[in-house]
Amino acid sequence: MNNLKRKRKKTLSPRLRYPLRKSISIVGLMGSGKTTIGVRLARRLNLTFVDSDHEIEAAAGHTVKEIFEKFGEDDFRKGERRVINRLITQDKKIVLGTGGGAFMDEKTRGRLKTKSLVIWLKVDVDMLVERTSKRDTRPLLKTGNPRKILQKLAEDRYPIYKEAHITVESGQGPHDKVVNDIIWKLNKYLAIEKKKYQNRMARQRAKMNNVQKQEKNNGTASDTKDKG
Ligand code: S3P
Repeated sequence: MNNLKRKRKKTLSPRLRYPLRKSISIVGLMGSGKTTIGVRLARRLNLTFVDSDHEIEAAAGHTVKEIFEKFGEDDFRKGERRVINRLITQDKKIVLGTGGGAFMDEKTRGRLKTKSLVIWLKVDVDMLVERTSKRDTRPLLKTGNPRKILQKLAEDRYPIYKEAHITVESGQGPHDKVVNDIIWKLNKYLAIEKKKYQNRMARQRAKMNNVQKQEKNNGTASDTKDKG
């Protein structure tokens, strides 16, 4: 491969330039592509993709739809909290695709924010309507007009999804472009975090040096006093 081609390839498929110390979780409304993008992102980062809804279904022995019908949304949210907590606190780092409502639960949100790097896939409502119309497995969209429901969910949830560490607009373009955007933004985010960490360490070292200097000065002062 010549230099130009190599350079082009490099910019087209960026690599993660920093070690990942935490799992990655993806949040966003139903139909935002959390699984589609999550699977591809995991492949690029050499991690396993885990879907929280699938894990809840496996643990409960029921589909999400059945859990909503038989036990109600509250029970579903409790299970969701438990499952996400387990997945996000395990040693193995993963890319976690969460159900659209998971980040709305205060405890789950807190956990996700401290234990993982949270990425919000932001998609406009028209596209969500189109994408979600292809499957009827989403109980929340069965209670009325899906467009109105998604519109309302966007109004309620977008201000909270904004708390994610990284926001990526995911439109009509190719999936790989979204994955590239995520990796670029992750690099930028991790570079800033590294800088913050280095500054914190430098401040701590300076503080320690001052204390040591102070102690030394105090020691010299009392020595002089003793001698005097
Ligand atoms: C929900 C989204 C669904 C699923 C459940 C509730 C929500 O997951 O967890 O139907 O509250 O938005 P997807 O976002 O993967 O469709």
